[in-house]
Amino acid sequence: MEIEPKELLDPEEFYDNMAPYYDRFVESTRYNTLSLEEEEEFIKSFIKDKRTILDLGCGTGRTMKLLSSVRGELVGVDISRKMIEIAGNNGFNVVQASVLNLPFNNNCFDSIYSMHGGFGYCRNNDEVNSLSTELFRVLSQEGLILLDTPHGMVRGSKYMISWSAGNRIIHTIGFGKNKDEILKALNRAGFGQIRFFGAYDGYAELRDDSRRIIVCATKGIGLTK
Ligand SMILES: C[S@@+](CC[C@H](N)C(=O)[O-])C[C@H]1O[C@@H](n2cnc3c(N)ncnc32)[C@H](O)[C@@H]1O
Repeated sequence: MEIEPKELLDPEEFYDNMAPYYDRFVESTRYNTLSLEEEEEFIKSFIKDKRTILDLGCGTGRTMKLLSSVRGELVGVDISRKMIEIAGNNGFNVVQASVLNLPFNNNCFDSIYSMHGGFGYCRNNDEVNSLSTELFRVLSQEGLILLDTPHGMVRGSKYMISWSAGNRIIHTIGFGKNKDEILKALNRAGFGQIRFFGAYDGYAELRDDSRRIIVCATKGIGLTK
């Protein structure tokens, strides 16, 4: 796909522009082909009894809202100042930072999840490795990660995102990923029990035509498939 560089915003600028419209946009577009209930159930089934939970790329706090009944301490991190402002105004404990450079101590989260983002924040393989290492660092010994990433086999490794922000359309680049590159990076960082899914419903098997690639892994040692 030919992309005009002058039209493209970097992710921070894109999401700063999108922030005031994000929640309405998500409700009114393709996102509503996904069931919020399924999304909520899916995240909750993973983070169950976790005490400290990090939302990676939390945006306005949309998924943090879904977890309001969870007892653990919830923290969000996002690169966009405007997204963070809205999430903060919504009452969430949030920090502005890149997922590649997390401003947290070692071993401090029992669970880290990322919906509609995950490894899609990484522009290349080095960044997939850096994110995996960073997640491993901040995760507690018994910790668990759950990352929902655009599937490269369906979306492409680089694709244009065009969203409507008020009365204009804004563009950025999205980055799809494949199972093998994620598996390799997580193994390299030290993760175990690495499992892949293709959707939220009933832990659907990952297929070549799944739009998303959901990976779950633990810091403890275990089987990888
Ligand atoms: C598609 S939104 C998803 C927001 C939220 N997870 C949800 O499900 O509604 C992606 C979010 O990731 C943030 N983001 C993009 N690149 C990032 C990076 N490198 N580090 C931290 N956040 C990033 C954006 O600012 C945006 O808020």
